[in-house]
Amino acid sequence: MKRNGILVTAAFMAFVSVACTPAPNASERKSVTTTAASTTTSAAARSPEVAREALPPMIVHKSPTCSCCGLWVEHMRAAGFDVEVRNNDNLESIKRGVGVPAGKASCHTAEVGGYFVEGHVPAEDVKRLLAGKPDARGLVLPGMPAGSPGMEMPDGTHQPYTVELVRSDGRIEEFAKH
Ligand code: CU
Ligand code: CU
Repeated sequence: MKRNGILVTAAFMAFVSVACTPAPNASERKSVTTTAASTTTSAAARSPEVAREALPPMIVHKSPTCSCCGLWVEHMRAAGFDVEVRNNDNLESIKRGVGVPAGKASCHTAEVGGYFVEGHVPAEDVKRLLAGKPDARGLVLPGMPAGSPGMEMPDGTHQPYTVELVRSDGRIEEFAKH
């Protein structure tokens, strides 16, 4: 029994360490984000600022060493979310705690507005979730699709992926295709 637990944990950690290989274009992306932030000042009176006021705070649970998680946090902040990062070495228990279904895990887990957001879900999907307030537990984007926010490839490769909605009764349905 104990041995099983250790094996499961080891397998999960192996997944995380493979999944969280540093993105090669991290520094490039960072400079793009900085530029965007400094040029939005002139547009301060427009809707992004209004949306920012209305967005609930977000908590992101991530491994301290995962760089793609950090890039996703930057993506959410650029979209107007106020993000608190909590580094954690036991993400498995957090995923179980918030209700991420088995087999739907990714690297990081966010909590926002009473929902969970698992993985590299685009900010536009999170905003649509919060605006629509469906009877659901949250959104999942299992694995680490290339080209999703925080997983941008240097050559611009974009692997098709589907964000799914986990209903309160546990049913899973398509939420958005990218
Ligand atoms: Cu990731
Ligand atoms: Cu991540």
